[in-house]
Amino acid sequence: MDLMEAIKGRRSIRKYKPAPVPESTLQKIMEAVRWSPSWANTQCWEVIAVRDPKIKSELATALSKGNPALSSITDASLVIVLCGKKGVSGFKKGEATTVKGDWLMFDTGLAMQTLCLTAHSLGLGTVIIGLFDHKKVEEILGVPPNAEVVAMTPLGYPAAEGIAPKRKEISEFVFNEKYPVKQ
Ligand SMILES: Cc1cc2nc3c(=O)[nH]c(=O)nc-3n(C[C@H](O)[C@H](O)[C@H](O)COP(=O)(O)O)c2cc1C
Repeated sequence: MDLMEAIKGRRSIRKYKPAPVPESTLQKIMEAVRWSPSWANTQCWEVIAVRDPKIKSELATALSKGNPALSSITDASLVIVLCGKKGVSGFKKGEATTVKGDWLMFDTGLAMQTLCLTAHSLGLGTVIIGLFDHKKVEEILGVPPNAEVVAMTPLGYPAAEGIAPKRKEISEFVFNEKYPVKQ
């Protein structure tokens, strides 16, 4: 699949068929994640693949009833929980090297984008889920204190297409030379 086609064609998918994702397909996606860029190649991302229906049901309790992605957690046969190791990205000898502190959110974001685009190119759907009780998910999955859960996504065969929400025009976010002065 052409890169622009993959970028523009990927949608958040919230309805899934129950069919399992072949292990070889998951490996292909993880191979792509492996090659994501990261701060000084620190690769702080960690991935938990959840297939057990009981654990998936527990994960669903961490989402509010109003989250439009709620049912996708239990409908899809596989849920990917993306974690990051703390104090690695953006750090040198244990000290943060920029005012931004930990770049964990940035690097795991890049990994998630790689995951979603690769999944789409292989005919699979994803929806990045960030609105949930992170502490609850860390408890359910036994994530240690030196790592944290960032986001999750179901990974599976779409049962319905997503609708593309409107995007800003390029002129609304690209500025020349300096940040524009507010009128
Ligand atoms: C960091 C992040 C968190 C998100 N959290 C949720 C979520 O909790 N529930 C949900 O249904 N969609 C969530 N989304 C999906 C966005 O709503 C979606 O990407 C956006 O509306 C654009 O639609 P598209 O992905 O189809 O292009 C999240 C996306 C990102 C990047």
